[in-house]
Amino acid sequence: MDWGKANRMSKLFRKDGHCFYLPIDHGYFLGPTSMLEKPAKTIAPITQYCDALFVTRGVLRSAIDPSYPLPIILRVSGGSSILGDLTDEEVLTSIDEVIRLNAAAVGVSIFIGSEHERQTMSNLAKLVNLCEPYGIPVMAVTALGKELKDKKPEARYLALAARMFAEVGAAVVKTYWCENFEKVTEGCPVPVVIAGGPKCDTTREVLEFVHDGMQRGAKGINLGRNVWQAPNPPAVARALKAVIHEKASVDEANALFEKMDAAAKAKK
Ligand code: 5RP
Repeated sequence: MDWGKANRMSKLFRKDGHCFYLPIDHGYFLGPTSMLEKPAKTIAPITQYCDALFVTRGVLRSAIDPSYPLPIILRVSGGSSILGDLTDEEVLTSIDEVIRLNAAAVGVSIFIGSEHERQTMSNLAKLVNLCEPYGIPVMAVTALGKELKDKKPEARYLALAARMFAEVGAAVVKTYWCENFEKVTEGCPVPVVIAGGPKCDTTREVLEFVHDGMQRGAKGINLGRNVWQAPNPPAVARALKAVIHEKASVDEANALFEKMDAAAKAKK
């Protein structure tokens, strides 16, 4: 691997090989999103527990200070909103922009099993072709179209998608947690990170699926709403960091969460 790409990969994964990415890219298809009205304010107390920020160029330029300490994973695909066919995406950001913004990596969604499976796989391939000469890693995002959104994704589907993304050249695969998650990680030769999906009712539930995924071969997480839409985002992020980087059990991480949460409540 060239020095530049190895350097970027070393920023995306800590020395233990694990990572905690914080996504705030939701507006690219959802529009205004609760708690992302002022992104810089929302992420300020959480950043210290995370390893990278996943964001579009628009929010990066308008809301994030250039001295921001974490590496940037630039969301570069989009084009369709929740009002239309979400699967009909293109790559919207040029390689010049990716370089100008000093991105550590780029992220693109692929909708396997949808009408635009081939188009979005082609987006991934084109992006890998554009980024490889500059040593910029591509994160492939497993995305679900309307047909799949209401069903719980299964290991067979997620493993198929993850392997296809790696074959085309993705450096990292972001996917959803599922039962028997080892079927996804074992079939994928590049690091797999777990996406959040819909908001859980409790922090413990979040810690449980993340811990299970990590035990079954995930290298980390890319969790947004379950962190910054929680009542106490820094406490959730601190507990997740303990699972990702400190080998904490669910009970240990949850105790950490409860301690921080109680201290914050006592201050009020
Ligand atoms: C949207 C994305 C988000 O980064 C991803 O869904 C993670 O966010 P959340 O944990 O809120 O689901 O890629 O397509």
